[in-house]
Amino acid sequence: MDTRTLIETARALVAGDRGLLAMDESTPTANKRFAPLGIPQTPEARRAYRDMIVTTPRLGECISGAILYDETLRQQTNEGLPFAQARIVPGIKVDAGAKPLALHPGEEVTEGLDGLRGRLDEYRGLGARFAKWRAVIRIGETIPTRACIAANAHALARYAALSQEAGLVPIVEPEVLMDGDHPLERCATVTEAVLHAVFDALDAQGVLLEGMLLKPNMVVPGLEASDQSGTDAIADATLRRQVPAAVPGIAFLSGGQSAKLASARLNAMNARNRDRLPWALAFSFARAIQQPALDAWRGVAENVPQAQQALFHRADCNRAARRGEYDAATDAPRRA
Ligand code: 13P
Repeated sequence: MDTRTLIETARALVAGDRGLLAMDESTPTANKRFAPLGIPQTPEARRAYRDMIVTTPRLGECISGAILYDETLRQQTNEGLPFAQARIVPGIKVDAGAKPLALHPGEEVTEGLDGLRGRLDEYRGLGARFAKWRAVIRIGETIPTRACIAANAHALARYAALSQEAGLVPIVEPEVLMDGDHPLERCATVTEAVLHAVFDALDAQGVLLEGMLLKPNMVVPGLEASDQSGTDAIADATLRRQVPAAVPGIAFLSGGQSAKLASARLNAMNARNRDRLPWALAFSFARAIQQPALDAWRGVAENVPQAQQALFHRADCNRAARRGEYDAATDAPRRA
C-alpha cells in the first residue's frame, strides 16, 4: 500500500474550497433521470451528457474530482479524449448496487466484492485515482436491523481495504435514506449507529483513515415529516462526533434534497463551526449539482451553454458553502 499517495490524494480531493462531483449514475439510474425529459436512453446520450458536464468552463475551480461510472470511464469526450483524462481527477463507482438482504424484507445490502481486486487493478490502469461504494440504509418502524447495518458496514470496510491495496482512495458512502415521515432525531440516532458500525468495521479491516474520505447523508427529517426543521438545527445534528479526527474530509451526498437546501445546509455547517472541526466539510453531490443542468440540457446540443452555466452556478454555490459564504436568500455566493 502506497500510504503517502493515498494520504496526498485524499487531502487533495477536499483541499481548499472545492468538492467532488458524483456523475456516476449507473445506467438504470441515468435512464431514470433522462426519461421524464424525453432524452434517449442510449450510451451516446449518456456520453454526450457527461461531455457537457466535464467541458463546463471553469468547473475545475469548484470541483476537485469527478466520480465516474464504468461506462463513462471507457468512453471518450467530443474531443476524443478518454473521460479519465478530461481535466478533473477521475474516480470510479465500484459497487454493483444494493440487493435485497436475505431474511430481512425491505432492507438491502450492497454487492460487488467478488472479483473486486481485479476490477480495481483495471480501473487504476484506466486512470482512476479514487473509488466509491454506496451502502443504503432505510428507516422504518422496525428497520434498520442490526443485520442490515452490520452487513453493509462489513462490505464497506472490505471494499475500502481492497481499494487502498490497489492504490485508490476509498470514498466510503453509508447513506441513510430520507424516505419516510420520521423526525430529525430518528435520522440522527440511525446515522450515529451506522457510523459507529462503519468505523468499527474499517478499524477491524485495517483501513488507513488518513487515506479515505467519508461520504455520509446529512441528518435530516424524513421527506414526509410534518416538522421539516431549520437549516441550523440540521447543520448541528449532522456534525457527528462518531467520525474519527484522522479522516481528512467528510464529503456529503445530497440524497434528494433540493439543490438550494443542500447548499444552505452545507454552508451552515461550515459557517457555524469555522476552525473548530478536525475534518474538511465538503460536498460530493450528484443531483444537487447536476439536476438544474440536466433540466436545461434536455439532450439538445444547442442547450449546452445554458446547461453548463447552470452546472457552474451550483458548483460555485457549493464552493462558497465550503467557506460559509453562500447566501441562501439570493442563491449565490456572497460577494465582499
Ligand atoms: P446524490 O447527491 O444525488 O444523493 O448522489 C450522491 C451519490 O453519489 C449517490 O451514490
